[in-house]
Amino acid sequence: MNLLDIRNLQVVFKTTTKPVHAVNGVSFHLDVGEILGVVGESGSGKSQMTFAMVGLHSKNAKVSGQALFEGVDLLELNEGELERIRATQIAMIFQNPMTALNPYLRISDQMAEILTFHQGMLKSQALMHCIHMLDVVQIPDAKNRLRMYPHEFSGGMRQRVLIAMALLCQPRILIADEPTTALDVTVQAQIVELLKNIRQEFGTAIILITHDLGLVAGMTDRIVVMYGGQVMESGTTESIFSSPEHPYTTALLDAVPRLDRDSDSLSVIAGDPLDVRDRWKGCPFEPRCEYHLPMCLQTRPPIETANGRIRACHVDRNLIGK
Ligand SMILES: Nc1ncnc2c1ncn2[C@@H]1O[C@H](COP(=O)(O)OP(=O)(O)OP(=O)(O)O)[C@@H](O)[C@H]1O
Ligand SMILES: [Mg+2]
Repeated sequence: MNLLDIRNLQVVFKTTTKPVHAVNGVSFHLDVGEILGVVGESGSGKSQMTFAMVGLHSKNAKVSGQALFEGVDLLELNEGELERIRATQIAMIFQNPMTALNPYLRISDQMAEILTFHQGMLKSQALMHCIHMLDVVQIPDAKNRLRMYPHEFSGGMRQRVLIAMALLCQPRILIADEPTTALDVTVQAQIVELLKNIRQEFGTAIILITHDLGLVAGMTDRIVVMYGGQVMESGTTESIFSSPEHPYTTALLDAVPRLDRDSDSLSVIAGDPLDVRDRWKGCPFEPRCEYHLPMCLQTRPPIETANGRIRACHVDRNLIGK
């Protein structure tokens, strides 16, 4: 059984004008201990998809489909049950570590509360465990740092604190939504290394959400490529990079700087990102796709599965990238 099985997930926001189809029938799975990358341009629905899965969507969202965690549909749970799952089984870390911490509370209080509340630990016992977790995420002098306030940590160290908090109850899944975007490159690399170690040490499955293909190349086992609230393609990281089968993936790869190409060959994806207020009958990438066929405008491509790859595209896979 997959650890997480997302089936036909839809998130539609009610607005004063047209509804926004932010997530439009997304399906994918996550295996035990796997690191899965979710990539796509800004607005492709990556964050809203994960928020909806764990009940963190805003009030104007209507969510449908299934999000099966160890066989239990998260979309059927009540707020109390979801809160418990988020604290103990599916933890999340976000882009800006400052806003996720309470600036007025010492790190010790913010961390220990999770254990006293969700695991019934005594405060003294909880604090010992917190020190251990800060050691795990390589915060030096953990015992003393624990007493400090968030502003006394650098950005990278704050992200480490949040990772430690997220791991306190040994979750099965860690969802990291653009965890390194706000950090400089050397610190980014350290956080990526840390996440890899965590999977190694605790067997935690990780969903890494990013628009940075460089980040997913170095750390994920599989990748899901999203556009316009839909999955365009998914497969092992190696196979997606070596033989992309969807025009959107090739366009994304062409837009990544590489040492073996001169900077003149770097391309941008022509056209504007999709306006998800319009419901697309066909493929959402059609207006920007260099391979588009007449049927792409009218008919949503069926999901094809072959050799562990999934893709949604009308164009013959052998023509892509040639
Ligand atoms: N409360 C809301 N009401 C209406 N539309 C919303 C709401 N929240 C998000 N959206 C829309 O949902 C779409 C998907 O947004 P989402 O944040 O999931 O994108 P993303 O892929 O995470 O982008 P980024 O890389 O910038 O984080 C966007 O068009 C966004 O404007
Ligand atoms: Mg996002």
